[in-house]
Amino acid sequence: MVMVLDKERVGEEDVKNTFQLENYLKMSDVEISERIERARKTLGSRVVILGHHYQRDDVIAHADLTGDSYQLSVMASQRKDAEFIVFCGVHFMAESADILGQPNQKVILPDLGAGCSMADMATVEQVEDAWEQLKEMGVIGNGKTVAPMTYMNSSAAIKAFCGRNDGVVCTSSNAVPLFDTYLKSFDKMMFFPDQHLGRNTGLKFGIPLDKMALWNPHEELGGNTEEELHNAKLLLWKGHCSVHGRFKPWHVDQVRKETPDIKVLVHPECMYEVVEKSDLNGSTSFIINTVTNSPSGSKWAIGTELNLVLRLQKKFPNKEIRLLAPDLCMCATMYRIAPQNLAWAMENLVAGNVVNQIAVDDKTKHFALIALERMISLTEQNQK
Ligand code: 13P
Ligand code: SF4
Repeated sequence: MVMVLDKERVGEEDVKNTFQLENYLKMSDVEISERIERARKTLGSRVVILGHHYQRDDVIAHADLTGDSYQLSVMASQRKDAEFIVFCGVHFMAESADILGQPNQKVILPDLGAGCSMADMATVEQVEDAWEQLKEMGVIGNGKTVAPMTYMNSSAAIKAFCGRNDGVVCTSSNAVPLFDTYLKSFDKMMFFPDQHLGRNTGLKFGIPLDKMALWNPHEELGGNTEEELHNAKLLLWKGHCSVHGRFKPWHVDQVRKETPDIKVLVHPECMYEVVEKSDLNGSTSFIINTVTNSPSGSKWAIGTELNLVLRLQKKFPNKEIRLLAPDLCMCATMYRIAPQNLAWAMENLVAGNVVNQIAVDDKTKHFALIALERMISLTEQNQK
């Protein structure tokens, strides 16, 4: 049974002790699972649990809604009735939910250590510094326009920077239509922080590699000459995902050699040399839909996070599904959201304690919302 404590009767200290995370680490998996479900029932429509596709099975089992990073941001904006959004994903996703949610809603990330190393590769100070350098050398200004576009995997402050500068947010599921719109309306684009998604998408529009400049925030002019920056159509931030970076072109060669009729399906956070050799690439939802709609007996080598690939293997025993690389391509920060953290966060909510709240300050929220709403409206227009 979930302990619904009366704080006045039992005292603040007892409440704190009862809900200490370390107590949950000693409980059995069955007990943890039962506690989450009881808390969910007690809270009813006051809470919605969102789960990203990279979450482990024992967390996904408790999610009300699952999705890719775009779908989850839309879901967060639509569940206006829920007082609490418990986000089983990583920090930038919870921030986006807070920005898109209602003012009275509270977003909870069950483990505050669930970050994203790629998002950490660009700080807003570095982005502002790069922008100033581009202005000083005349790449921006005097009638020349550059659209800043940030991948969802970035801080709220960078989303706000894009909102303030006519830019937008994108995810791997809508990068193509958003590039299309912004490439038509601006002279150049600057894309943060994932160089691979930026490069892979730019190539889909026929932008040659010598018209893409890589901006290294630790070097003057990002490590480029002025001429290279003036000449570039697409400026790419030097960031990457270390999980998807483990997939190498030789893995594709190897699986094709072992199984000639296998199809290679990867996430566009993989390097261009891997995407180029693959059969298909797309967001986590695209990967799930592609495998789901494939015929029985089809063979897939998938280049994305391990927990998603294992779930697909379990779900489709009639298909041959394997991870593209033999290494452990697991997102360790996504994995930090364990059922124990979820049970702890949920039972605290039942007791009236909001733990691990993710709250973006009002000024950042205002401009980040502009960039996120632009993303959603342009994506919806494109889907019509
Ligand atoms: P999706 O938007 O495809 O869900 O990807 C999010 C992510 O972090 C991939 O590493
Ligand atoms: Fe970030 Fe990569 Fe993990 Fe996605 S898989 S959350 S990009 S570290």
